[in-house]
Amino acid sequence: NRVVLAFSGGLDTSVILKWLQQTYGCEVVTFTADLGQGEELGPARHKAELMGVRAEHIFIDDLREEFVADYVFPMMRANALYEGLYLLGTSIARPLIAKRQIEIAREVGADAVSHGATGKGNDQVRFELGYYALAPDIKVIAPWREWDLGSRTALIDFAEKNQIPVPKDKRGESPFSTDANLLHTSSEGKVLEDPWAEVPDYVYSRTDDLVAAPDAPEEVTIEFKGGDGVAVNGEALSPAMLLTKLNELGKRHGIGRLDLVENRFVGMKSRGMYETPGGTIYHAAHRAIEQLTLDRGAAHLKDELMPRYAELVYNGFWFSPEREMLQAAIDHSQAKVDGTVRLKLYKGGVHITGRKSPHSLYSEKVVTFEDDAGAYDQRDAEGFIKLNALRLRLLGRRDQG
Ligand code: ARG
Ligand code: SIN
Repeated sequence: NRVVLAFSGGLDTSVILKWLQQTYGCEVVTFTADLGQGEELGPARHKAELMGVRAEHIFIDDLREEFVADYVFPMMRANALYEGLYLLGTSIARPLIAKRQIEIAREVGADAVSHGATGKGNDQVRFELGYYALAPDIKVIAPWREWDLGSRTALIDFAEKNQIPVPKDKRGESPFSTDANLLHTSSEGKVLEDPWAEVPDYVYSRTDDLVAAPDAPEEVTIEFKGGDGVAVNGEALSPAMLLTKLNELGKRHGIGRLDLVENRFVGMKSRGMYETPGGTIYHAAHRAIEQLTLDRGAAHLKDELMPRYAELVYNGFWFSPEREMLQAAIDHSQAKVDGTVRLKLYKGGVHITGRKSPHSLYSEKVVTFEDDAGAYDQRDAEGFIKLNALRLRLLGRRDQG
């Protein structure tokens, strides 16, 4: 029997690797995804080798383009925000990891998969809903829900007993937990657990401090085609390169920091800090190009569907018929979402300064307060208002005596 482990190469998943070998006596296959977390992945290979994983059973895949093109962009077409603020950076990565893990399980003939998410969070749900949707009979091993290494100390003792290298800074209490990819970095736990205590400066890792950010605004243009970003400042870029470029710009101007108390799917509230520099810019720009190109009915319906869509992504239902139904409707709306948005980035702020589109529904001729040369007959508004007022007047006559 074989198990495919989602392996970051960090302390927790290294302990899990060894624990799986010991507890289940099984052959462990490791899968490490490059989602743009900005970490060297060489050490993950080395660690897996040290723990006896066969070279052909160490999978390290660069999934950055697939991540942005097939997960982040579709979600951005929906303008998805969970609880009004969270851009879902961790949530959207989990289904892709789950999907690749199942593919690897099939390739190597494994009957089980494993992950390093705790039993208290959202991530366990997201991974496992993905596994079960794609491989209904797969066996899932979630060590955090099974073992008795409940504390940090127990984990480190286990690591030391088993010759697993423990980084110096992990010997003491690690001060918070992070998850990173091209879209965001999230930090939770420990020093962040008191929702009244301000996030310490050292927690921020990918946005520059607002006080130190440039004193002059920086102008940027983003071009969209079919609802997806295709170029920045006139330079055509692949999805992952486009997000990488926006991350650089956003970092410099301290954009996309969010201190949030959110409702986890399992029922508890948690406090986290997110940094989503490029995603914050992209989200604002996508909304701006929709302002010109979407009809009111389509735009308002999208806005009604959005919270539902965001909740599905947050709760881990990416591979579900209802998410796919919503996606089909959203994607349909994007056919003519083409054009260019101009923005200014300044001290943490994203400010739209212009937008244009070959498919704009905006008519200066109709909207102008100057002479419109008969484009709109103001007399039509009288009947429009009268019929809309009809029921209000009937009510008024009845109830105001
Ligand atoms: N609360 C976020 C979510 O559920 C992030 C979870 C993972 N973050 C972490 N620091 N371990 O999507
Ligand atoms: C975890 O529990 O592993 C991280 C937090 C979460 O999934 O919500």
